[in-house]
Amino acid sequence: MSPDKTKKEEALREKLVFTQETEEDVILNLSLRPSKVSDFVGQKAVVDNLLISIAAAKRRKEPLEHILFSGPPGLGKTTLAHIIANEMGTKITATSGPAIAKAGDLIGILTNLGEGDILFIDEIHRLSKVVEEFLYPAMENFQIDFVIDKGPYAKTIKFNLKPFTLIGATTRSGLLSAPMRGRFGMSYSMDFYSPEDLVQIVKRSAKILKIELDKEAALEIACRARGTPRVANRLLRRVRDYAQVKGDGKITKETVERSLAMLGIDGKGLDALDRKVMKAILETYSGGPVGIESLAATLNEEPDTIADVVEPFLLKIGFLKRTPRGREAAKAAYEHFKLSHRKETQKELF
Ligand SMILES: Nc1ncnc2c1ncn2[C@@H]1O[C@H](COP(=O)(O)OP(=O)(O)O)[C@@H](O)[C@H]1O
Ligand SMILES: [Mg+2]
Repeated sequence: MSPDKTKKEEALREKLVFTQETEEDVILNLSLRPSKVSDFVGQKAVVDNLLISIAAAKRRKEPLEHILFSGPPGLGKTTLAHIIANEMGTKITATSGPAIAKAGDLIGILTNLGEGDILFIDEIHRLSKVVEEFLYPAMENFQIDFVIDKGPYAKTIKFNLKPFTLIGATTRSGLLSAPMRGRFGMSYSMDFYSPEDLVQIVKRSAKILKIELDKEAALEIACRARGTPRVANRLLRRVRDYAQVKGDGKITKETVERSLAMLGIDGKGLDALDRKVMKAILETYSGGPVGIESLAATLNEEPDTIADVVEPFLLKIGFLKRTPRGREAAKAAYEHFKLSHRKETQKELF
């Protein structure tokens, strides 16, 4: 593993509400990840549309069109891909953009797909250009072009694939090339979950993990989960640890408040990294505007971490504004951090 990667992972491990999957998540996900549509909470518009497409495809006895899911990490993109496979009664093969180094890596995967199978490519925006171009005919005509031999004897051979469905997931739909995006028949962007939806998710997980928790406690976790099911499940586990060590294992609102305070998560669900970012904008850059790159350099963090993980939620809760010149702190952020809104005060003075 490269030193950069290790450093990045260390930084992410520190971030409790980090939305990427950790090893612990992978193990627990097996039990917590819903496998049926009926267990998948929220995202009603996305789910309703998908169900119609699934029913129609089944009736026509055709594979589904290619589907693209975009949205911040932890909102259920991978879960939905598996649910779709379940509903269609097909096999799913999962891989990811960074895992496919060269077009050759895809040949085996593609030629092994059966009719109607699903190929799930996570972080699809990270496919290389060459691999992307290799995928286009596969997506369009279920064909791939092999080049055999070199120089004057080089020949292109077309190979027919069985009709399959590609499901792509991306945290940064903006980084996906236009030709790639255009090859998806359906494209859904996932939004942060409401506290009500997250309460349902927390309750369901508590039941599976056999954790006793009351209504207020579930709501408190939901409100601090950054609108993200993965975070909600993780907070639930941390709160359970606390309750088992410090109390009788039963989780009340007070247990949630105390344990999350100890973990440095505030009432809005912001963690240390979120606060570090906000404070840098508010203090070092006097409220902004500041570009992601400079911000990342100041904080000694990866620009991707800030763009994928930190920024979307801060935008969602109205702490940040995107302007052509960079990110700016909004009034709500000044209030949360109990700072006077300098720019507004100045306007009032003049
Ligand atoms: N709508 C949902 N209902 C219930 N649990 C969910 C939902 N969406 C996500 N989860 C939970 O959150 C975890 C993370 O979801 P995942 O599909 O891995 O997110 P993504 O692929 O978007 O990063 C899942 O394992 C599951 O336990
Ligand atoms: Mg995923």
